[in-house]
Amino acid sequence: MLDSPEDKAGRVHIETYGCEMNRADSEIVSALLEEQGYLRAEHPDDAGVILVNTCAIREHAQERALANIAQLKRYKEADATVRIGVLGCLSTHLGETIAARLPFLDWILGPDAYRSLPVLLRTERKKQPTILLQSDRESELYEDLLPARRDGINAWVTISRGCSNHCTYCVVPKARGPERHRPLASIMREVNAAVEEGFPQVTLLGQNVNSWRGGDDGTPAFPDLLRQVAETPGLKRVRFLTSHPKDCSDELIHILGRGGAITPQLHLPVQAGSNAVLKRMNRRYTAEHYLELVDKAQNSIPGLLLSTDIIVGFPGESAEDFRRTLELVQWVGFDEAFVYKYSPRLGTPAFKLEDDVPDEVKIERLTLVNDVIRRSGRKRREKLIGSTLPVLIESDSARDPNEWMGRSPAGHVIVLPKGEQESPGDEISVRIEELSGFTLRGIRAD
Ligand code: 5AD
Ligand code: SF4
Repeated sequence: MLDSPEDKAGRVHIETYGCEMNRADSEIVSALLEEQGYLRAEHPDDAGVILVNTCAIREHAQERALANIAQLKRYKEADATVRIGVLGCLSTHLGETIAARLPFLDWILGPDAYRSLPVLLRTERKKQPTILLQSDRESELYEDLLPARRDGINAWVTISRGCSNHCTYCVVPKARGPERHRPLASIMREVNAAVEEGFPQVTLLGQNVNSWRGGDDGTPAFPDLLRQVAETPGLKRVRFLTSHPKDCSDELIHILGRGGAITPQLHLPVQAGSNAVLKRMNRRYTAEHYLELVDKAQNSIPGLLLSTDIIVGFPGESAEDFRRTLELVQWVGFDEAFVYKYSPRLGTPAFKLEDDVPDEVKIERLTLVNDVIRRSGRKRREKLIGSTLPVLIESDSARDPNEWMGRSPAGHVIVLPKGEQESPGDEISVRIEELSGFTLRGIRAD
């Protein structure tokens, strides 16, 4: 607990829901506030300012965030000076509704409006929440800020913001605005600063990293950026999220097989295996194109970890459409997948389509896909037993403080007994001994 009320007023607690982009944005918000002298509060009890960075991607995420925000009212009841703000995609998606439902809030800010926070914090409390969804800059990239990082060994580096793909089910293009690319020099400045600060791993983030371009003439392109980042002295690993199959070039696949700091992993959301469904989703590739890409990737990237996202029960998804998804998933044999039930989102083009796949059918389809993924994920991991891999130690394992959790270059989770000499951020050689669930276990081999 803190000694004085002044201490509390200067402390900010940020809760973050949703994707990696939100985690990176929360670090940007922390940086903006730390510049003004605010300190971080680990617990809302200790904070004069509570911020919740929200996700709107599916109904479930939205409702969870709204329920938790409603709970925060008790902090204001206990101390009327406490101020509370909602950040992130839910602000742009449902700003007015949130303001009407939760009038005790002070601010509702969209992902491009965070620069207003320091001024808002100094402004008197209004009767109604202040809603700010846009930046007054033409194209907000926060490129001049160095995020206040707190995430173990990994530095998230945002390379683009927003999305212009307009997949018909997705709120992101509306919630985060059109795609904007961060200039190369500012990305490199941030990467160098992160490595100097001691982060051995960088993850480049964007809704669709493959379409990143440094200039109007289309160059440098994403593979050039990746190459340049990987050459940063002292950097052990570079990863990236998320790729779109329509923009995943042969050149990118080629350099993922190159080794060094570039990790052999590809998260390539397929969403569905039926061309009719892909078309209605406006994904702009066919299942055949996706399979071709995967084939190239499997053949040219040694030790690849391939993962995907899948939506089951999109409007009009017939039993035959779903069979194609299941077949694709069986054929590819992914290492990992995030499988979601389709969730209609207000304001998206698909919202106008009838959500005609019953929930029990969605659940059945979700279970079937997950079963296939579990089998292929285990099968691919079993092949690693007996091999020795370089493991980057991340943290204590969640289950046992006497064990480390680390990752292989491809990103497999590996657990091992702690030794005397290693600590998070070290890369050590580990002999893989067994597989338990999706977790590989091993012992230090060097
Ligand atoms: N319903 C279900 N899943 C969705 N996703 C995006 N929008 C929706 C939606 N409306 C999934 C996609 C995307 C991942 C981040 O979330 O699979 O790749
Ligand atoms: Fe949404 Fe599609 Fe953009 Fe991904 S690429 S954020 S799924 S619109």
